[in-house]
Amino acid sequence: MSAVLAPDRLAEFLHGLPKAELHMHIEGSLEPELMFAMAQRNGIALPYADVESLRAAYDFHNLQSFLDIYYAGASVLQTEQDFFDMAWAYLLRAQADHVVHVEMFFDPQTHTERGVAFDTVIDGLKRACDRAAGELGVRAELILCFLRHLSEDEAFATLEQAKPHLGKFIGVGLDSSEVGHPPEKFARVFAEARRLGLHVVAHAGEEGPPAYIWSALDVLKVERIDHGVQSLQDAALVERLVKERMPLTVCPLSNIKLCVFEKMDQHNLRRMLDLGIVATVNSDDPAYFGGYMNQNFRETGAALGLDAGHLRQLSANSFEASFAAAADKQRYVDRLGEHCAAFGL
Ligand code: ADE
Ligand code: ZN
Repeated sequence: MSAVLAPDRLAEFLHGLPKAELHMHIEGSLEPELMFAMAQRNGIALPYADVESLRAAYDFHNLQSFLDIYYAGASVLQTEQDFFDMAWAYLLRAQADHVVHVEMFFDPQTHTERGVAFDTVIDGLKRACDRAAGELGVRAELILCFLRHLSEDEAFATLEQAKPHLGKFIGVGLDSSEVGHPPEKFARVFAEARRLGLHVVAHAGEEGPPAYIWSALDVLKVERIDHGVQSLQDAALVERLVKERMPLTVCPLSNIKLCVFEKMDQHNLRRMLDLGIVATVNSDDPAYFGGYMNQNFRETGAALGLDAGHLRQLSANSFEASFAAAADKQRYVDRLGEHCAAFGL
């Protein structure tokens, strides 16, 4: 069956396409309006006069220039209700974009460093995730990320704080400033996380070299690479990613906002698909980068000329790459098949 749809049908197909989001930092979903509301209710002063001047500051030239603003914005989060409200607002957006499964990153160290209890963070987020399954039809899981600019000892201390909550999150990840903080810095804490039965993922090859992707695979033994867009510089690495069906959670709007690629038509997502890499589309920090899941799909699709076949592949990849139980994966794949059939695909 041909994957060619007229432009308005293609837009409709994309809108309703069931999908999994596997790379989204919940702190990066905090919209300026909610940030100001929380600042007011918690008596916190933000260094911006209003929502417009905050948004105007979202003009980044690399990862670090974003992270500085992102960590400052997170300072408004104080109570369990704040964490719930932030996650709930994101989950409503996910539902609107036909995201049926989410694996959501959170950065506990950003909050515990400021004196917010680990329990406050995870309990607020988990309450929203649990409610989303029943009320929104969105299955949501949590992945705890260690901040790689901090030490391995601090990561171990965070894992200790997390141990009483092991049933509430499904894995660990590694994020924050990449260059100068290679995956091997966290070898022992990832070994301990694996021993605890947790899934493991890591940001690698966002700004950093292919060598960081190799060590995320070989040293941390990750099950997915977050970003990984630098992998295409290394033919042997590409061969391995394809052979092992190692997923990449790609975030196109993020890559443009953080100047990893100058323009969307230079993005390598389509090349990844053509090479047979299990690439997925994700929003990373949607409140900062100009859009949620469907906006990422729309802008990437338009710039790279993706057709319904590519979009179907991206959706199938997202389910394959997810940590959903086998029965849930089958349900998602069946739903994708029904959606395609409704468009004659
Ligand atoms: N934390 C939030 N977004 C991030 C990104 N794109 N890279 C690394 N750390 C992050
Ligand atoms: Zn990220």
